[in-house]
Formats: sequence, C-alpha cells, structure tokens
Amino acid sequence: MKVKVAETAGFCFGVKRAVDKVYELIDTEQKPIFTLGPIIHNEGVVADLEARGVHVIAEADLDSPDDTLQNGTVVIRSHGVGKPIYDKLKEKNISYVDVTCPFVLKIHRIVEKESLAGNHIIIIGDKDHPEVQGICGWCQGPYTVIRNKEEAEAFVPPKGKKISIVSQTTFNYKKFQDLVEIIKKKEYNICISNTICNATEERQNEARRIARRADAMIVIGDSSSSNTRKLYEICKTECQETFYIQTLSGLELDKLKSSDCIGITAGASTPNNIIEEVYTNVRRKLCTDVR
Ligand code: F3S
Repeated sequence: MKVKVAETAGFCFGVKRAVDKVYELIDTEQKPIFTLGPIIHNEGVVADLEARGVHVIAEADLDSPDDTLQNGTVVIRSHGVGKPIYDKLKEKNISYVDVTCPFVLKIHRIVEKESLAGNHIIIIGDKDHPEVQGICGWCQGPYTVIRNKEEAEAFVPPKGKKISIVSQTTFNYKKFQDLVEIIKKKEYNICISNTICNATEERQNEARRIARRADAMIVIGDSSSSNTRKLYEICKTECQETFYIQTLSGLELDKLKSSDCIGITAGASTPNNIIEEVYTNVRRKLCTDVR
C-alpha cells in the first residue's frame, strides 16, 4: 500500500511566508499584533492566532480615533493593499510589517509606473477580491477591472491612450488569454503583462497526476475554500473515490481499506500540520490492516 502526498499541497510560497512571519512576530514583538483582514482563509489558523493575541482588523479601523493601533504592529497580508493604506499608516504613525507576496508587489509597481506614464490600466480579475482592490489602489490614473467576456465586450478604450493590461495572480490563464483577445480587437496600442502566478496551476496539475494513478484521493481544505473545491472536482474526475475533508476528524478511514494507492492533496490555505496529521493516520491505519 502506498500513500502519496502532493508536494504542492497546502500553502503557496506567498501565504507560507506571511503566516510564518506572523508566528515569528508573536515571539519577537512585545506589543499587540493586528492583521489587516484575515492572514489566511482558514478558520483554524485565524482562531489559533486570535488565541495568541493576534487580532483581525478592517481597513476602516485605521480611522479609529483611539490609539490602540499606534501601540501595536499592523501586518499587511500577502494579498497586498493599495497606496492610500500605506499613506494612512504613515500619517497615523502606525508601525507595520508588510508581507505582501512579491508577485503581487510586482503588479503594484507595474500599474503605478504605467499609469504615471499616462496609460489606461486594465486589471483582469475579480473587482471584489482584496488583491484586485489593492492593485486598483496603486493606479495613479484611470483603470478598468474586467472579469468576464461580457465586461471585456463592453469595454470602450479611451481615445489616444495606450492600454496596459495586468492580471490578478490567481486568474485562470486560458480565460485571461480569451479576454485579452477581445480587448486587442478594440485597440492595438496595448502592453500585456502576464502576472498570473503558477502556484495554483501547479497544485492542480500535480493533484490531477496523482489522482489518475490513485485508488482513493483525499482533498483537505476549508469548506469555504474555492480553490480546494476546484481541486476536489479535478481529482473526482480522475478518481471516483475522492474524499473532501476539512480535518482528520472528517476522514472515514474504513472507506480506504481496499485501496492500494492513496493520494493526498490540500488547498492553498490548509496548514501543514493538518496534512501531516492526515498522512500519519492514514499510514498508521494501513499498516495495522496489513498486519
Ligand atoms: Fe501565493 Fe503569491 Fe502566488 S500569495 S498564489 S505565491 S501570488
């Protein structure tokens, strides 16, 4: 019996870096720690941090008249924030630690430079996503967020302006290409920066490869995580016996009894200790059964 854990299971580079930094701050900072929005979309991690004194705040809390934040440290998470938030932190003399993913920072630099050069910015992505809102906050002139075909069709290019296109890091590459094609037909003076991060795609491709060879597949992730749901769908297409669990307690080990090869993968916000725990228990159970 074999148990294979995907190498790309769990946190991507940017999220791991951010979460590790917050745990490091708990040990080193002598003052309260606040994160601007949840550091990660995982209830367990956020609750653990809360229990260690790390509080989630909203951008609106920066306007609070009391000096609670001035006496602490604010963490900017991997999604990043717009320039006005940095300006406010400085203006209010609030100390902060910036763990914006470097791939997101690169987009901030592109849109800032391109918009200062007078170009119209197009962000391919979801306007309600915090990463996109942060990118918008670095545009120093007009910009448009385009999420789907209809919005791309409806876009009217401003006369006499060059267009500069970037993408939300987690946007689907094929959809990005399709939307760029629609925009290209409207305006030829375009600069395209493919700023999609391949962490998501690599995780999905590896899950597909493992599920293809496995008799049973375990996908671990928060019930609200859309990228875990997507992983589940991919695995289910390749392997009928695919199980979606949030933690070890959701796993019915009996259902794995007849499997010779079990694969494990996890969504981008699943902590390593949960993956390890599932792996260890599956192995222990299988060994017992073999004996
Ligand atoms: Fe993660 Fe950064 Fe990519 S946060 S998904 S490594 S853009």
